[in-house]
Amino acid sequence: MAQQAQYPEAVEILQHFSLSEEKMHEIIHRLTKEMNMGLKKETHPRATVKCFVTYVQDLPTGKERGKCLALDLGGTNFRVLLVTLKSETDVDTESKSYVISKALQEGPGKQLFDFIAECLSDFCKEHKIEKDNIPLGFTFSFPCKQNGIDNGTLVAWTKGFQADGVVGKNVVELLREAINRRGDLKVKVVAILNDTTGTLMSCAFRERNCRIGMIVGTGSNACYVENTSNCETFEGYQTSSKPNMIINCEWGAFGDNGVLDFVRTSYDKTIDLESVNPKKQIFEKSISGMYMGEAVRLIVVELMEKGVLFKGRTSQTLQQKWIFNTRYITEIESDSPGHHRNAAMVLDQLGIRTTNERDLACLRFICEAVSVRSAKLAACGLVALINKMNAKDLVVGIDGSVYRYHPHYHALLMENMNLLLKGSVKFQLMLSEDGSGRGAALIAAVSNK
Ligand code: GLC
Repeated sequence: MAQQAQYPEAVEILQHFSLSEEKMHEIIHRLTKEMNMGLKKETHPRATVKCFVTYVQDLPTGKERGKCLALDLGGTNFRVLLVTLKSETDVDTESKSYVISKALQEGPGKQLFDFIAECLSDFCKEHKIEKDNIPLGFTFSFPCKQNGIDNGTLVAWTKGFQADGVVGKNVVELLREAINRRGDLKVKVVAILNDTTGTLMSCAFRERNCRIGMIVGTGSNACYVENTSNCETFEGYQTSSKPNMIINCEWGAFGDNGVLDFVRTSYDKTIDLESVNPKKQIFEKSISGMYMGEAVRLIVVELMEKGVLFKGRTSQTLQQKWIFNTRYITEIESDSPGHHRNAAMVLDQLGIRTTNERDLACLRFICEAVSVRSAKLAACGLVALINKMNAKDLVVGIDGSVYRYHPHYHALLMENMNLLLKGSVKFQLMLSEDGSGRGAALIAAVSNK
């Protein structure tokens, strides 16, 4: 605290990022309401939080075995994986990452899917499995309206993707067509899934009590286990013999109708306007890795321009939108208390050479405020789901670069969930091991029966 008094201008700005317990409860209340609208048939079309049914009704038993391929599209890298489920504790994964260039993200959809099929072919040939009829699970981490386990229509792109001619199409079909155009592979696409679903499945394979899968990475979203009888947009919701259905909340879109305006800051509004999808994914834009760095940058630039930071010096580099990668936040907060080695290194990369303790501490202070708010919002989301399920004892599977690499994110989530739940629920937050790959394989194994 004493240190913060050294930079009152930053304190003033960062006040807007703080979330009181009362506000957090209000967020939980509003999210629950929006989710119920997504689940109900009548309100689903106008709901912002869609709560899509995933057609995944069985959680893993731990007995699943076999060899499956998985494609993972939706984060920083595109990956092809070959997963062999040998036993509950022995899962063999071979994978290869490919870069999806900006041009592919923003160009014609056909080119994107041809590239995906090309990578798949390259991988299969490397592993000499191109002639094998291996089931494939497609982890496609964008909002999809599913009509079956192997049918998903893209509703909108998120996280910077904009490829033409994909929204409104069944992406499984686009993938099959691209594979057929090549004619050199025999794989069988059996399932499409969201990364949150993969995370839940992969965590539940080990921890049978897992009921939620959450991602805090480039984007943010969660899925949970709902009673089938509450899933009105699922045609068999009243007759299904299976009691459960995994729901992909697509909570990133929470707030798109203005219900989060009471906690949004002017920085959030600027980030939204700078993004390729203004007015969309409002909750996600305050939580996830694609945007956290930009919030820090906007605040730093404002303080720099006011002459509060860096003794009135400025940096052209820092003026560039999106230049402040969220990885920098992770690095800066990894400095041990009172030390600013990483902070100085990051600033150096951004064109500011300084050893000024006050400036470096202030930068860290800004990063912390953005991280804390992200974790608080994610905690609100988790508590809304836990309350909705009326769960008293559960495991939450989590993945994504922010959760995985940020030095305090797990502790921040724990602290805030404890604050909100007040000991009424026993819960464990668990890093999910490669949900996008392993989860896809589990679903492919089950769907291919
Ligand atoms: C975005 C996507 C969602 C995904 C999340 C995390 O919010 O719309 O489908 O689960 O990012 O990757």
